[in-house]
Amino acid sequence: MAGRPGSLIVIDPSVPDDGEMSAIRRITPEQPFPEAEQDTSRNRNSGAYATAWPLSEKYYICAYDGNANGMYNVPMRGRRYAITLLDVFGNKTRIYAHPTISCLDPMPIGARKKPPVIPHKTLEGRPADADGKRPSPIPAAELPKTGEIGLINVYDTRIPFPTNDPIVALRVWQLFPKVAPLQQRPWIGAEIHQTGRQCLGTVPVEADGSAYFTAPVGVPIFFQALRADGCAVQSMRSDTYLHPGERLVCSGCHEPKENVRRTAMTNLPMAMRRAPSEIKPGPDGSAPFNYRRLVQPVLDAKCVSCHGEKRKPKAPDLRAGDWRKEKWGFSTSWNNLVHRTNYFAWEMVEEKRVDWRFFTPAYTEPGRYLAINAPLRKMLDAGHHGVKLTPEERERLILWMDSNGQYIAHDHDADAQRDGKIVKPVLE
Ligand code: HEC
Ligand code: HEC
Repeated sequence: MAGRPGSLIVIDPSVPDDGEMSAIRRITPEQPFPEAEQDTSRNRNSGAYATAWPLSEKYYICAYDGNANGMYNVPMRGRRYAITLLDVFGNKTRIYAHPTISCLDPMPIGARKKPPVIPHKTLEGRPADADGKRPSPIPAAELPKTGEIGLINVYDTRIPFPTNDPIVALRVWQLFPKVAPLQQRPWIGAEIHQTGRQCLGTVPVEADGSAYFTAPVGVPIFFQALRADGCAVQSMRSDTYLHPGERLVCSGCHEPKENVRRTAMTNLPMAMRRAPSEIKPGPDGSAPFNYRRLVQPVLDAKCVSCHGEKRKPKAPDLRAGDWRKEKWGFSTSWNNLVHRTNYFAWEMVEEKRVDWRFFTPAYTEPGRYLAINAPLRKMLDAGHHGVKLTPEERERLILWMDSNGQYIAHDHDADAQRDGKIVKPVLE
């Protein structure tokens, strides 16, 4: 049985998402949701329904035990799920019950229409061709190391971008799997359970919002849409992958889910009329990500004259310091600056800066988080004690603020990374 028994619902992806329950209809309204509604006036834990198989939009077969409510009171062993025909009009018809065991996962068996053949678009796992012969696999070493990504229009978004600033580039990040067994050991960034990452660099976005570029295959990547001054207006809150031989084309950042494209595409997007761009790497300390290499040199050159040993009472210490003596093993300057970088974290929920009814904020709202709204970025751009940053120095600080307060790239050999050494990840 997949998942936990409870109430049955229908999700209608054609209904616009209101961030609440608009697309969800409960077809068993007498049943609360087992995890979310335990303390409602109904005050019982639902366990009655499981494993529905729709016959149509109105009729379902499912597993049902009317006595199974009370998630903890009625153990699985004591339940007797019976195969039941259910409809949206409130009827339930028992089809089959076994005297001693539950019957789960009903599935009608019969001839059905052959599903369409979906073209196979990668060089791996190629299916048999028309004469039934399976092509022999391409050796891993011969598979291409990069694939192509196309973006049709970055401005095609569910939540509109808050400013009219043009988007001029995409920043491409790679995520790393965790290799150390314990959570938050070691700490690698501002957020609890922060995922390891590195910035692969940027690619251009054309005037019509399109992009076309090559990216590494087989690693999790995600994107940020950048305005001309390098601040991310929107960050993707998930990741995607390229398979060898694949060309991945995306509609927007993101397009509304309920209708794939609102306007028909009449012209070939500008970026796709040229060869794909290559990702332009960022400054030292972007890949693998390393705060000591990316940010500290800027602070040493432009800030510690006033933020070092002899500093005014309100001027924070911006020296690297000794991470072994510092909280969480971060640099002194990191600890003194990170709270001015507007990173996205659970603590924002506690500050009621996002809707606390969601376990985590449900959407990344464009223009709200990271450098674009960071007090540190605003203070430096407005002018601070005559500090003049070169474009690259500013880029380094923005990249850090847009990294969500990252400190080191991944959790392998964290101490060497803390010392500013380049440590290759063991797993990508
Ligand atoms: C910088 C803007 C942006 C670009 C460009 C972008 N995404 Fe996303 N992506 C997002 C955001 C934001 C989310 C979080 C879901 C949401 O808020 O709609 C997301 C979520 C996802 C998810 C998780 C599923 C979901 O819908 O929540 C997948 C998969 C995904 N994106 C794939 C892609 C692919 C494939 C591309 C193109 C190669 C792409 N994205 C380009 C912003 C972007
Ligand atoms: C010429 C001296 C000088 C330089 C250079 C300087 N600062 Fe400051 N900074 C100060 C002083 C003095 C304060 C104390 C508050 C004030 O007077 O603004 C301060 C305060 C701050 C604060 C705290 C602001 C607050 O509102 O609490 C931050 C953060 C900061 N500086 C960051 C930096 C960074 C980052 C750099 C380098 C890019 C830098 N400063 C360069 C003199 C300087």
